[in-house]
Amino acid sequence: MKIAVMGTGYVGLVAGTCFAELGNDVVCIDVDVAKVEALRNGIIPIYEPGLEDLVKRNVREERLSFTTDAGPAIERAQAVFIAVGTPSSHDGSADLRYVCAVAEVIGKHLRAADTVVICKSTVPIGTNFKVKEIVARFATVPFHVVSNPEFLKEGAAVDDFMKPDRIVVGAEADVARRTMDELYAPLVRTGAPIIHMDIPSAEMTKYAANAMLATRISFMNEIANLCERVGADVHNVRRGIGTDKRIGTAFLFPGVGYGGSCFPKDVRALQKTGREHGIDLQVVDAVERVNDEQKKVMFEQVSTCFGGQLAGVNIAVWGLAFKAQTDDMREAPSIVIIEALLAAGAVVSAFDPQSAHTAHAVFGDRIRYARTPYDVLTGARALLIITDWHEFRTPDWQRVKGAMGSSPVVFDGRNLYEREKLTGLGFGYYAIGRGKNPA
Ligand SMILES: NC(=O)c1ccc[n+]([C@@H]2O[C@H](COP(=O)([O-])OP(=O)(O)OC[C@H]3O[C@@H](n4cnc5c(N)ncnc54)[C@H](O)[C@@H]3O)[C@@H](O)[C@H]2O)c1
Repeated sequence: MKIAVMGTGYVGLVAGTCFAELGNDVVCIDVDVAKVEALRNGIIPIYEPGLEDLVKRNVREERLSFTTDAGPAIERAQAVFIAVGTPSSHDGSADLRYVCAVAEVIGKHLRAADTVVICKSTVPIGTNFKVKEIVARFATVPFHVVSNPEFLKEGAAVDDFMKPDRIVVGAEADVARRTMDELYAPLVRTGAPIIHMDIPSAEMTKYAANAMLATRISFMNEIANLCERVGADVHNVRRGIGTDKRIGTAFLFPGVGYGGSCFPKDVRALQKTGREHGIDLQVVDAVERVNDEQKKVMFEQVSTCFGGQLAGVNIAVWGLAFKAQTDDMREAPSIVIIEALLAAGAVVSAFDPQSAHTAHAVFGDRIRYARTPYDVLTGARALLIITDWHEFRTPDWQRVKGAMGSSPVVFDGRNLYEREKLTGLGFGYYAIGRGKNPA
């Protein structure tokens, strides 16, 4: 099928590349000239495992190309995906300016009757009807709008796209449903369902899914904080409840709070939708409040440990991205933690395997960026684990201790280590909810 993808970010690039890999003829469009230029030169603007090889192979085999010129790509397409960003506005609602702009461009260039305009961006309930209205203002041929929310995770995006748990399709016309079935047929051969529904339900499904996942994280963070007070170990509690089939094991890890480009903004957008319709979404409100507080926990631990005297104290940080296997810094907990440390006068050196460039856009030269995990340790009084990259799981503790200053302390924001081991090696050790931390 001939496909155009509007927006070549984490979702658009992965979706476009994967559809090309499945044999389709895909053009990815973006307004970011530098991004398109880089992609044309084989440079992938984001870190996403497995993506680079896939992009290069599909470009080489002429199923995938990149352009800033939307017109010709839309004119030839049978399916046009919208995958532009929907960031938070100042009032928490989703900013739809990019979606609306793209809808207008699509309307102006639709040429083939029954082209399907598919919204993959996460958009508030009712947005697809708005997209339909905008496209219709300009279109000269019949077309169909479909809501097809994306559930991929950054860090495992290619895998998630190629092996989805399910495909959600909100459509009004049979012809659009058939096009979607055809597009996704190769991905559902092993039994994952294509779940057809009405458009508002599809839009709501995406928000409900993200809000549910965020709820599990905030819930476990609250339980972890209580575990710490009462001397329980959240690691045991998590295993104890996760084995209950009704609960399941996923998304029960406490930590430094959730971040990223989706959960925070989608939770806020859902709250806003609730308010607009006179529904107080109390659980969702609490999820966000708990998360905001959780992002402060690690700084409070550090501050307590140093008696509130952080001016001039060297702090080493492992991990900046909002989670492992991505370079995405959007709403990363590291931002809250490091900004608080800097405000208190600490001197911060950080290592992240993939995010130095994206973190530089946030912190500039206010922190030092190291090339290896051990480079940040020289003279550091504290080591903070903020993102759980694989390479942080079994460090050479003797080397860590040798490089750090006297009385080194590890603040384990991801519960990667064992208290007995670290204290046995002579480290002070703080975790999240794993029994009582030092006073
Ligand atoms: N990132 C994720 O993990 C993820 C997962 C599921 C759903 N989503 C949703 O998918 C959507 C896209 O997210 P993302 O993370 O890929 O965003 P992103 O910011 O990485 O990419 C968006 C791209 O759209 C481009 N763009 C903006 N205006 C444009 C226009 N008029 N024409 C063409 N391109 C334009 C931008 O230059 C950018 O490259 C959002 O609604 C998001 O909530 C994201």
